[in-house]
Amino acid sequence: MHYRLQCLMCNARYPADDPRALCDCGSLLDVAHDLAALRGSVSRQLFDSRRGEWALPYRSGVWRYRELILPVDEAAIVSRPEGNTPLYRSPRLSQWVGIDDLTLKHEGENPTGSFKDRGMTVAVTQAVRLGAQAVACASTGNTSASMAAYAALAGLRAVVFIPEGEIAYGKLAQALAYGAQTLQVRGDFDAAMRLVREVCNALGITLLNSLNPFRIEGQKAIIFELLQQRGWQPPDWIVFPAGNLGNTAAFGKALYELKEVGLIARLPRLAAVQAGGANPFYRSFLGGFRQRERVTAHTVATAIRIGNPVSYERAVRALRWTDGLVTEVSDGEIMEAKAQVDRAGIGCEPASAAAVAGARRLAAEGVIQGGRAVVAILTGHLLKDPGATVDYHLNRLEGIEATYANRPRVIEPTLEAVREALAESA
Ligand code: F0G
Repeated sequence: MHYRLQCLMCNARYPADDPRALCDCGSLLDVAHDLAALRGSVSRQLFDSRRGEWALPYRSGVWRYRELILPVDEAAIVSRPEGNTPLYRSPRLSQWVGIDDLTLKHEGENPTGSFKDRGMTVAVTQAVRLGAQAVACASTGNTSASMAAYAALAGLRAVVFIPEGEIAYGKLAQALAYGAQTLQVRGDFDAAMRLVREVCNALGITLLNSLNPFRIEGQKAIIFELLQQRGWQPPDWIVFPAGNLGNTAAFGKALYELKEVGLIARLPRLAAVQAGGANPFYRSFLGGFRQRERVTAHTVATAIRIGNPVSYERAVRALRWTDGLVTEVSDGEIMEAKAQVDRAGIGCEPASAAAVAGARRLAAEGVIQGGRAVVAILTGHLLKDPGATVDYHLNRLEGIEATYANRPRVIEPTLEAVREALAESA
C-alpha cells in the first residue's frame, strides 16, 4: 500500500489498514499518500483514458482516480457508481450573480442526491475491508441518506443519529426507505455528533462522519473530476457551502495533491460560504484562525445548521494551502439565490444555494474580480428539501421576503377561470 494514516497535529503514523478513527492524541487523521511515488505513476492521460468506461470501477467518478484515493482491489469496491456530475452554465444566472464566467458543478446529481456519495463509497468500501458489521453517523440529513444507501448495498447494519424535527423531509424519507435504524436525538446536530462519537467508541461501531479520513479521500474526487472536465485547467475560484467542513478539507487536500503529483500547475482559491446564523468558521476566519469558534446554529439551510464543525483543523489547512477565504450570507440571500438557481432550470437545496449567494456577495464586494473563472459547487438536489421550496413560494418563511415567489393559484374548473389566471400573470 502506498499510503498510511497520519495525525494532522502530532504527525504520528499508523498502518494503512488500522481501523482507528482518531490518533492516540485525540486529533484527526489524514490518509497520507506517497506523493513522490505517485508523481511517476499517475498522469492526465491515465485518468483521461478511463473516461466513458461502462464498467466498474472506472465508471465511477470517484474510483476513476483510485490511485489518488484508495488503491484497493476492484472486488472490494462498493459503488453505485457515483460522480460524473454535470457542469452547468446559465447566462441568466451569471448575470444575476455578476460573474460572466460562472459554472455550476451539480453534486446533487449523485445517486442519493448529494455529494456525500463520493465520500461514502470510499468509507463504506474501507469499512467492509476492515470487517465492520455496523456503521453509524450523525447527520443533518444527506450523510444519513447516503450512508443508509451504501450500507444497504454492502449488507451492513446502519444506525443514523439526526436532530429531531430539523432535517428536510426528502432526507428523512431516504434514511427510512433504505432501512437505516433512525434515532431522532432531542438536541441539535452538534449534540447528535457528540453522541455518535461516544456510541461508536463504546459499542465498536464504525463511524462514517467526515471525521473518518476515507470520507475525505472520496470527496476529493469532486475536485479531480472538475479539473478533468475543464481539461485540467484550474478556475480562479471554487466557491462552496461549508458546514461540518469535510468538503473544505477535501478540496484543499485534493488541490494540494494534484499540484504535488504534477497534474496541475497552480491552485485555484477556495471560498467557503457559511450561513450567517451558523458561522463558526467565518468567525474563526475573521480572527485570523487564532481561535476556534463555536456557535448555537440556526438557518433555513438545515444541511449546514452546524455550530461546532469536526473538520476544523483540516479546513484551516485547506484555506492556507489555497490562499482561501470564508464569507457568510443571510437566510434571505440563500433563498433568493436558490430561487434563481431553480428558475434557471437547474435547481438545488438551500445549503447549495449558499455557494451562489456567496459568489454574488464576493463579486459585489470586488473580492472576486470581473473576468475571473468561478466554479460554484451545488451540493444537494432540489428535491431534498421540498418544504423549504414550497414555503418560499408561498411566502411562508419567517423573516424572509419571497422576492421571486411563484405562487400557485386555486381556480374553478372552467375555461373562463383559466383565461383569467393566464391573463393576470402574462
Ligand atoms: N451542502 C449540503 C447539501 C450538505 O448536506 C452539507 C453537509 C454541506 C453542504 C456542508 O458540507 O459538512 O462538508 O462542510 N451535510 C452534512 C450531513 C453535515 O450530515 O449531511 P460540509
